[in-house]
Amino acid sequence: MVAPVFDWRTPIGDRRYLSHDEFSLGFAAASGNVMITFPRMKICCIGAGYVGGPTMAMIALKAPKIEVCVVDMNAARIAAWNSKTLPIYEPGLDEVVKQRRGKNLHFSTDVHGAIQAADIIFVAVNTPTKTYGVGAGRAADLRFIESVARTIAEHANGPKIIVEKSTIPVKTAETIKDILAANAHGIKFEVLSNPEFLAEGTAIADLQQPDRVLIGGERTPGGEKAIRTLVEVYAHWVPRDRIITTNLWSSELSKLVANAFLAQRISSINSISALCEATGADVDEVANAIGKDSRIGPKFLKASVGFGGSCFQKDILNLVYLCEYFGLPEVAHYWESVVKMNDWQKHRFAGKIVRALFNTVADKKIAVLGFAFKKDTNDTRESAAIAVCRALLAEQAHVVVYDPKVPADEIRHEVLGNGKDDPRLTVAPSAYEAAEGAHALAVVTEWDEFKKLDYKEIYAAMEKPAFVFDGRNILDLAKLKGFGFRVSGIGKQG
Ligand code: NAD
Ligand code: UGA
Repeated sequence: MVAPVFDWRTPIGDRRYLSHDEFSLGFAAASGNVMITFPRMKICCIGAGYVGGPTMAMIALKAPKIEVCVVDMNAARIAAWNSKTLPIYEPGLDEVVKQRRGKNLHFSTDVHGAIQAADIIFVAVNTPTKTYGVGAGRAADLRFIESVARTIAEHANGPKIIVEKSTIPVKTAETIKDILAANAHGIKFEVLSNPEFLAEGTAIADLQQPDRVLIGGERTPGGEKAIRTLVEVYAHWVPRDRIITTNLWSSELSKLVANAFLAQRISSINSISALCEATGADVDEVANAIGKDSRIGPKFLKASVGFGGSCFQKDILNLVYLCEYFGLPEVAHYWESVVKMNDWQKHRFAGKIVRALFNTVADKKIAVLGFAFKKDTNDTRESAAIAVCRALLAEQAHVVVYDPKVPADEIRHEVLGNGKDDPRLTVAPSAYEAAEGAHALAVVTEWDEFKKLDYKEIYAAMEKPAFVFDGRNILDLAKLKGFGFRVSGIGKQG
């Protein structure tokens, strides 16, 4: 007779979940005629966005014994997760969702029900930059985090592990614990920090083989036990030496610092791109030369029109705010310069276009190729394309945008604001149509299809002199010059 480790009657707080290895052992033991009941761990994730959706889909794929439910208050988003057309475009995501949806992966608007059923609750709601009051333009707006904490406290019917998946300022776990303790009628919660490091466009690969998984928790018996439980979830597919455990504050802070360091590399190489243009050096050659030094490394040294995305700017500004809050103005200025350099680079690119087109783009047609903040995503948040389009419109240009994945409405909404229209901003269904009759082409997103266009044909269809501004250094500028284009890259001589 094999004694069950526990069964479903065990009160949830006293359950010890089977480790990955114990699962296999348990099933081997059960192969006689002894019936053992294993409770299925239930995970819920509040927030079905770019992080919640893919992360939970990967847990469901790699740990088929775990029940995963992703919930969101946005009914349209949940409907899309349950449809053929997922709300986000991410290579490989469709296949993963298709494999597990309806089995151990569910998408629902029933936030309260999911909270009650779950043993572990991930919080993956948005944490945008605050636009009002104290810290406006810098601090993280934690209203969604706080509202989730209050909802959990109100609806939880037993102890739970709460996992901060959203990127938040250091010490947020304290706020969450405070709100839970004040409202949860004696129910015990453990709060863990488990920041997400996936990048959009490569989310599935990043989740499948993460460089590391970071879990921060309190160094108390309850905290250690919660950490072990979460480690077991990831250990289904992540090698243990890649699962790092730390105290809560180190984990929370590491997420902001990781993004700050990544963005800093881009601003550093972008600053050098300006010097390259002034001196005749080539920024790609410089990046290659310095990146060969193993202490520097080759990644995140691609000069560009400027970094975008929902997180780099917001997380650095959050770090800046924290430094100011803790009385460290010099540290705040240091990190703020990374964002300032990025803003300058975006405007420098637009300025170069205006200067090259004889100091006026008024009534000229400029084709903007790409609107997403990087290739292989439909996400446009903080995309450099927004700043470039606005700057060109301010100079009275006619701007025609083409992006393979971003819908026209979203482009108009991002550039002009909600519900606004401007006849000078149009969206074309292809790069060729965007370029028809244009005075200049500006590549703003590095979509692979832009490398394969027939530039000879495009040249023939454009006004002359025809200009190309490659904001991503993906085109063969020498070849384009051969077709007759006047060319300009980032950090390169034209
Ligand atoms: P998102 O805006 O795509 O998704 C957040 C979702 O949370 C939305 O669908 C929203 O409706 C939902 N939500 C907000 N409040 C809610 C509530 N009270 N109840 C139920 N649902 C609620 O955001 P995202 O890009 O997935 O980012 C989420 C967090 O993860 C942010 O803190 C972000 O900084 C961090 N992060 C994002 C990425 C990324 O690549 N996008 C990577 C790492 C970390
Ligand atoms: C970034 C981080 O890479 C992730 O680790 C992190 O989890 C995520 O932010 C987050 O916290 O949201 P993401 O913004 O999705 O991921 O994409 P990145 O690949 O980092 O690119 C960000 C921006 O920098 C893009 O606009 C990209 O085009 C630009 N970039 C990137 C460059 O201009 N040059 C480079 O060398 C690399």
